[in-house]
Amino acid sequence: MEKKEAEEQEPGQVVNPWTVSAKGGGKIDYDKLIDQFGCQRLDQSLIDRVERLTSRPPHVFLRRGVFFAHRDFNEILDAYERGDKFYLYTGRGPSSEALHLGHLIPFMFTKYLQDTFKVPLVIQLTDDEKCMWRNLSVEESQRLARENAKDIIACGFDITKTFIFSDFDYVGGAFYKNMVRVAKCVTYNKVVGIFGFSGEDHIGKVSFPPVQAVPSFPSSFPHLFNGKDHLRCLIPCAIDQDPYFRMTRDVAPRIGYHKPALIESSFFPALQGETGKMSASDPNSAIYVTDSGKDIKNKINRYAFSGGQDSIEKHRQLGANLEVDIPIKYLSFFLDDDLELENIKKEYGAGRMLTGEVKKRLIEVLTELVERHRQARAAVTDEMVDAFMAVRPLPSMFS
Ligand code: TYM
Repeated sequence: MEKKEAEEQEPGQVVNPWTVSAKGGGKIDYDKLIDQFGCQRLDQSLIDRVERLTSRPPHVFLRRGVFFAHRDFNEILDAYERGDKFYLYTGRGPSSEALHLGHLIPFMFTKYLQDTFKVPLVIQLTDDEKCMWRNLSVEESQRLARENAKDIIACGFDITKTFIFSDFDYVGGAFYKNMVRVAKCVTYNKVVGIFGFSGEDHIGKVSFPPVQAVPSFPSSFPHLFNGKDHLRCLIPCAIDQDPYFRMTRDVAPRIGYHKPALIESSFFPALQGETGKMSASDPNSAIYVTDSGKDIKNKINRYAFSGGQDSIEKHRQLGANLEVDIPIKYLSFFLDDDLELENIKKEYGAGRMLTGEVKKRLIEVLTELVERHRQARAAVTDEMVDAFMAVRPLPSMFS
């Protein structure tokens, strides 16, 4: 089943590219989301298959179920097993000066996929999208796109296999032809159903979805994939982007293209709790890759929602509620060591470890991650950004 549309979502739970909010202040129900969106669960047998095919331990985001849903990922693995190639496509809508930790998740995972499968990657910077949704000027959106490109490059992508492009710079030619092919297949009623647009939304929003759809088709990149029209595409992203690709998959066969495959993550939650995603539009909900050690410490200590009890005596007696505890959730994304994580959960859940101790460990883990990123970003020059964004062939993209 391919399509479930905006109005069919679980009442109260809203997940689309612009809004992520759970029902009645609770948690996002990811099982329901899989059913509603009609995607597939990324189960253990698929993770075992990745391990077998790549002879590498599965990425921590696979082991911990951070990437939990997919569409046709098994077909990508079938193709890989036959010796056929594929390419990766992901993106970023540049709405803030710097990325937050939630944004790092698809990029860290995409880097793992690129390194493991040795495949080319296209990264779309939707400066046009954010210009229209966030009321930024064209120039400001373009500036943010370049700033964000530095954070993306700092994740360690291989320049010989990676093409980063901004829509304002790249849309045209073969890319635009595909946009028109897609646009002709999608009625106004259809986009309203998928994205929930209203009569008050400007037409820029209504006409944007084909822009995010067409990087899924290799013919949109003749300088990379000339003559490889049947190359499969795999899109790593969080599940908020699914509506764009439901639309894309619906249209693809009608215009003679393969449907793109997807591998989709849950959300890195806001500091305040798991009712929504960490979002760039609320600075107090987010830790940015530019935050200092002091900022991280303050934000975690002040805002990170704790499942600990409100007095030490009660905590020792009852232990923490790990289900709602944000420090535990964050550690489960970013603490690599499985044994240490299990031990913290056991001790904290039993009340032998206090919230302050768990937060202290989280502050160390995040400070180290952000500091590593800061150093990598400081080494990214404007020339490197130009080089990643140059329209050029990638001679060693499949080796
Ligand atoms: P954007 O800039 O909102 O988000 C960039 C990527 O980060 C994911 N993401 C998150 N992942 C986990 N936890 C979070 N709290 C969180 N917040 C955001 C998003 O799912 C996305 O993968 N329209 C897109 C840009 C885009 C794109 C793409 C994204 C264009 N083409 C193809 C993915 C794949 C956007 O504004 O993303």
